[in-house]
Amino acid sequence: MTWLEVKTYEEMSKMAATIFEKQLREKPHSVLGLATGGTPIGFYKELVQCYIKGDISFEEASTFNLDEYVGVGSEEATSYHKYMQEHLFNHVNIPRENVYLPDGLATNLEKECARYEQQIEQKGGIDLQLLGIGVNGHIGFNEPGTSFQSRTHVVELADKTKQDNAKYFPEGKSVPELAITMGIETIMMAKQIVLLAFGENKIETLNRIKEQGISEDFPASCLKKHPHVTIIYGS
Ligand code: GLP
Repeated sequence: MTWLEVKTYEEMSKMAATIFEKQLREKPHSVLGLATGGTPIGFYKELVQCYIKGDISFEEASTFNLDEYVGVGSEEATSYHKYMQEHLFNHVNIPRENVYLPDGLATNLEKECARYEQQIEQKGGIDLQLLGIGVNGHIGFNEPGTSFQSRTHVVELADKTKQDNAKYFPEGKSVPELAITMGIETIMMAKQIVLLAFGENKIETLNRIKEQGISEDFPASCLKKHPHVTIIYGS
């Protein structure tokens, strides 16, 4: 596990974009795992700039997002589909058929989870996975207590997660109770992982990764078992 401390949010975003840029240059048909939340917004801006400058192309790339809320349609402002269109997909040349996110409106959620796993497998697995982290140590939406053997599944969001994510929902609209997320094992199968964390509120969470053992009570601790993880962080 490599820890890279940065001074500014911009530095973190640039550093992460450089890793993704390198990946796409070395393997244009890379399968990228993507994350949402406030933290990676600057990273996506950097990546879009790299594309505009002509340094990278997404023409052959594929992407799989970590998660999506259940009951939220892809065109709704609070969906992760919409977030990804706004921050990345609308600005780069990725073929729409190469973009994958779980369908939060699927009538059969279990089937949707199995289908998502199959799609990842059919693409040959994820080459490079981006992660953020929740203050309770969740990655994707894998809340404390999630099995390390989990694959894409439906989760009930923890109260803390709903509180933290309420800022992304308009007043009067509550955070959904359920989400579909890649499982811990799905994430761990990625060949390389980059986790971004910035801000005072994430310091204690990062210290727990450093200091505590590996336990399902703290999902991000699984990353200690992965051979190629970079954590880029600052406050
Ligand atoms: C959500 C997402 C996570 C993300 C986390 C942190 O719960 N499902 O993938 O890492 O938020 O978000 P933020 O970057 O806004 O702190």
